[in-house]
Amino acid sequence: MVNISVTALLEQMTLDEKIAQLMQITPNFLTDNKADLTGPMEWMGLTEENVANVGSVLSSVGAGKVIELQKNYMANNRLGIPLLFMADIIHGYRTIFPVTLAIGCSWDMELAERSAAIAAKESAVAGIHVTFAPMVDLVRDPRWGRVMESTGEDPYLNSEFARAFVRGFQGENLSSDTDRLAACVKHFAAYGAAEGGRDYNTVNMSERQLRESYLPAYKAALEEGCEMVMTAFNVVDGVPATGNKWLMRKLLREEWGFEGMLISDWGAVHEMIPHGAAEGGEQAARKAIQAGVDMEMMSSCYVNNLKQLVESGEIDEALIDESVLRVLLLKEKLGLFENPYRGADEQREKEVILCDEHRRAAREIAAKSSVLLKNEQVLPLHPGQRIALIGPFAQSGDILGPWSIWGSREEAVQLFEGISEKTAPARISVAQGCNIETGTEEQLAEALQAAQSAEVIVLALGERSEMSGEAGSRADIRLPQVQLDLIARLKQFGKPIAVVLFNGRPLDLHGVIDQADAVLEAWYPGTEGGGAIADVLFGDVNPSGRLTMSFPHSVGQIPVYYNNYNTGRPLKAENADQRYVSKYLDIPNAPLLPFGYGLSYTTFTYGKAKLSADVLQPGGQLTVTVEVANDGKRAGEEVVQLYMRDLVGEVVRPLKELKAFEKISLKPGEGKSVTFTLQEERLRYYHSDLSYESDAGDFQVFVGPNSRDVETLAFRLLK
Ligand code: GLC
Repeated sequence: MVNISVTALLEQMTLDEKIAQLMQITPNFLTDNKADLTGPMEWMGLTEENVANVGSVLSSVGAGKVIELQKNYMANNRLGIPLLFMADIIHGYRTIFPVTLAIGCSWDMELAERSAAIAAKESAVAGIHVTFAPMVDLVRDPRWGRVMESTGEDPYLNSEFARAFVRGFQGENLSSDTDRLAACVKHFAAYGAAEGGRDYNTVNMSERQLRESYLPAYKAALEEGCEMVMTAFNVVDGVPATGNKWLMRKLLREEWGFEGMLISDWGAVHEMIPHGAAEGGEQAARKAIQAGVDMEMMSSCYVNNLKQLVESGEIDEALIDESVLRVLLLKEKLGLFENPYRGADEQREKEVILCDEHRRAAREIAAKSSVLLKNEQVLPLHPGQRIALIGPFAQSGDILGPWSIWGSREEAVQLFEGISEKTAPARISVAQGCNIETGTEEQLAEALQAAQSAEVIVLALGERSEMSGEAGSRADIRLPQVQLDLIARLKQFGKPIAVVLFNGRPLDLHGVIDQADAVLEAWYPGTEGGGAIADVLFGDVNPSGRLTMSFPHSVGQIPVYYNNYNTGRPLKAENADQRYVSKYLDIPNAPLLPFGYGLSYTTFTYGKAKLSADVLQPGGQLTVTVEVANDGKRAGEEVVQLYMRDLVGEVVRPLKELKAFEKISLKPGEGKSVTFTLQEERLRYYHSDLSYESDAGDFQVFVGPNSRDVETLAFRLLK
């Protein structure tokens, strides 16, 4: 039932006002003086009247600035329709949390939800109404720079995180809770499948594969009430997503019943022209509005073409009304007609942003998002040790990641600061050793000097944040050579070396994990990163992160992911010496580190798993129970994982699929019985005719600490 006031407002709007309402621009068009704007206005073909009636502004933040912008805009807007303020609040506003791929490694939905709620609170008080998050693109290619923004390679885990982020951003009642944001799930659809891991590149897959692996997380976000969807830059089955009527009308709106607002990605309407799907702006505008794209971000095909398309009868004005209504409804849901400033509050901004509570949460989440990849009795460190902290990330604020626009590197806690909290300054010698991609003899000499007197070397290495993120694709996913040389040089001292990695993607760790005695994956841990990683290095936090994206043996293996198919000539132990099997001549098939993998400072043992029955009846359920015990000396958290395999399907089925997991805390000596329940619904899959059902037959279940080291059980599904 549409609110009558919004419909009445729509009826008062001229066609020009309606079309301008479907445009989103950056704030400079509204704030810069006309002389400075001549270029951009001409380039976009915008008139002052267009600008006075745009529906939304992106990337304008700060309570004072937003309030002033809104006030001036409303004063010039004939009908007093308020602006929507949107921004990329991906994993924090000013208190920056670990990048999303790191939060994914926590396997902790409460943490994810809490990080989003804090991000919403800080940005809502700074005047933001909508965040362009969660990004839930499934990823299998670490060459792609934006894997840092996703939660990894599993559809089920990504779906659980999508729900948690939407809950955190939007809360229970978006209209009344002005500390929350409307969420915008992106990038619809399958942007993470860019060929070659090259950003903006072609995506090519069957509808069945799209539905099986890539769509579930977007759907989960919408089921959780996500208010908006953003189109992807790529084609879906040869048609740019932004003009793809099948994807946006048939699937998103008709099949999934999405009634919210659909916004294009930056310039993606206009990009249909270089895609070769539109001759010019007019055809691009027609295709996008017919696909149901409600708002055009930062290109002007709509304002420059929709009017004549309506006047020529090529499109019906009702299409425009439908989109304007969805924009007005979101503004109404956010309470902007009653209060155009919503949560913006300059005084409260000072109290809320970067407050101690938020910093504490960021530190906790960063520690729980780190993944211990190797440890041969080097970690945890103890305060008495003489430590040499060496590397380009020893004293670096570049630990916020590439999507931390409003975070400040100066406000970030560097690793040296974090370690200095744990031990006397006299016990630490610090040296840069090299830059990220270059180095000097002096830097190396300093590092060797620092290492000379140390008992243990902590090497802080990684990628500059610009080496991942949007347009941050790398064909070589090793650490830069100068850093590998530094490890090899320091190795000659014969002292224990612990490497801490600050990076935005799974790396080829040759030259790192074989040289170091311990490796801790810190990702980009955010504003409190240095303190959080020091907490882990000194054992104040026992690492519990588990990888949600495989680390390849080498870039030549990509795409390598755990939920792959068996093929007709699978490589097995018994045929490894044969030529004609699916393998490489020069590297193994298995990733270097598998999905679900991560170590702890304690050890967990798994008892024999038990199935409640070896037959699953129609409408029935099975339970899988396993005893897990902490037989180490420290309390710790373990992520018990349950996978499943359908041995024979109407289409081939993955060797493993994550179906359940439970993160448990165990004191030394403590044990817990973990039980998972499996129902027939969890065995369903898309058949070649796209029917979604299960088949009778044999199944395996796998239980263990990761996707590789598992115990196998079997059962049969009856129909
Ligand atoms: C970018 C990104 C998208 C982001 C948008 C606004 O190109 O693809 O994720 O939300 O533009 O900054």
